[in-house]
Amino acid sequence: MAKPKTQFVCQNCGTVHSRWAGKCDGCGEWNTIVEEDPMGGIGAGPGKVPKKGRAVALTTLSGETEEAPRIHTGISELDRATGGGFVRGSAVLVGGDPGIGKSTLLMQAAAALARRGHRIIYVSGEEAVAQVRLRAQRLGAADSDVLLAAETNVEDILATISDGKRPDLVIIDSIQTLWSDTADSAPGTVTQVRTGVQAMIRFAKQTGAAMVLVGHVTKEGQIAGPRVVEHMVDAVLYFEGDRGHHYRILRTVKNRFGPTDEIGVFEMSDKGLREVSNPSELFLGERNAKSPGAAVFAGMEGTRPVLVEVQALVAPTSLGTPRRAVVGWDSSRLSMILAVLEAHCGVRLGQHDVYLNVAGGYRISEPAADLAVASALVSSLAGLALPADRVYFGEISLSGAVRPVSQTAQRLKEAEKLGFAGAMLPATSSEIPKGGNGQWIAIEDLPDLVSRIA
Ligand code: TYD
Ligand code: MG
Repeated sequence: MAKPKTQFVCQNCGTVHSRWAGKCDGCGEWNTIVEEDPMGGIGAGPGKVPKKGRAVALTTLSGETEEAPRIHTGISELDRATGGGFVRGSAVLVGGDPGIGKSTLLMQAAAALARRGHRIIYVSGEEAVAQVRLRAQRLGAADSDVLLAAETNVEDILATISDGKRPDLVIIDSIQTLWSDTADSAPGTVTQVRTGVQAMIRFAKQTGAAMVLVGHVTKEGQIAGPRVVEHMVDAVLYFEGDRGHHYRILRTVKNRFGPTDEIGVFEMSDKGLREVSNPSELFLGERNAKSPGAAVFAGMEGTRPVLVEVQALVAPTSLGTPRRAVVGWDSSRLSMILAVLEAHCGVRLGQHDVYLNVAGGYRISEPAADLAVASALVSSLAGLALPADRVYFGEISLSGAVRPVSQTAQRLKEAEKLGFAGAMLPATSSEIPKGGNGQWIAIEDLPDLVSRIA
C-alpha cells in the first residue's frame, strides 16, 4: 500500500486526520487543521541500515543507577521546582503565557550558572542578541559569561552549539520559532516544532548537556503550543501568574527525575525575578481580617504549605437567576458546596448572588479548600467575621461529612509559624497534634461547622 504523502494535523491537540476538516474531532477546535508532511523529513530517505542494539539485564545495571547528575542553579526556588537542578542529558520544557517572565527567569538562571563556571548557551529566536544583552543588563547579569546566539534554524543551532567546547546547558527560546530545512511545513506548525524539539533532545542525549526549551502557551491553537511536545521531554514546568499581580509560580507538571507537585515562587520586580521563600506571607500580605466572608485556607503545594485567604460575598440578588462567579477555584466545586449547604444545613442561597475569590490571584486546586470556602460563604451570609487567627481545611463530601486530608501536621505547623492560634479541621484527621498552644477544633460535618460560625 502506498503511503499517503501528507497528513492533516490539528495545531491545537496534534490529532492526525486523513483529510482536511473544519473542526478537529480530537479537541473540538475550529480551523486548526493544517496539511503537513508526516515524516517531517526525518528518515524519509531510503538506504538506512538498521543498527542492532544490545539489551541488558535490569540487575546488571544496579551499580550504575546512582543519582542523576544535576546542575544546581543556586536559585533555590528554581532548583526546588526541577527537583534539585537541571539533569545532564535531559530536556526540560518551560511553558507559560507570553510575557509572563520565562526569558527573564532563564536569563537569570543562565547568569547564575555561568558564574559558577558552567558553559551556558542561550539561543534566542525571538530577540536579537542586542535585546537579550539589554535585558541581561537590567537583570544585573551582563557581567556573566553566558554565550548568546540569535538563531531559529535547527541545523544552524546544532552547528552553533556543537562548535567548540561542549556546553553544560543550552536554552532554546522558544520552540515556536524553530524551523528545520528537512520539514516541509511552515514554522510554528506541529511538525516543525516536534522536529526541532526532537533534534534538541537528541543533542542533549548525545552530548550530556542539559536542554531547556521555552514554549509559549497559545490559546488560539493556530501555533503549536507546549502541549504537543510534553510527552517528548523529561520534565515540564509551567510558569504561571496573574498579570495584575507581581508574583509568579513555577509549577512542575511532569518530572522523570523528581517529584511533580513542587512549586517555586517568585516575585517580578524591576530588577527581574526575586525568590519568595515564604509564599504564605506574600499571599496573606494584604489581608483585611475584620470583614465577614474571609477565611484563611491552609493548603499544600507538594511538600510545602501555602496559606491563602478565601473571600466570599453573598448578597441578595435582583436577577431571576442568581450569579455565581469564581476566581481562583473550581466553579463546579462551588456549586457542590452550595448544594450541600442547602441540602444538609438548610442554608438557602437560591435568592443570593455568590462571588468567590482567592486572594492575590492565586489558584487553589486542592479539594481540601472546601471547608475554608464553606466557612467564608456562611460567614458572609451571616454577616459575622471569622476569628482572624484561625485557619481552615478539610474536604466536604456530598453527604455533608468533613473528610480528612493529607499532611495535617505540616499545615498546622505552618499556621502556628505564621501566628495563627487555631484551626478548624476534619474530626477524622489522624495526625492532630496533642498539646501545644494551638486550638484545634475538630469538625464532624457541615451542620457542625455552620452551628459554630452562625
Ligand atoms: P519575559 O521574560 O520577556 O516574558 P516571556 O519570555 O515569558 O514572554 O518578561 C516580560 C515581562 O516581564 C515584561 O512585561 C516586563 C517584565 N519585566 C520586569 O518587570 N522586570 C524585569 O526586570 C524584566 C527583565 C522584565
Ligand atoms: Mg521571551
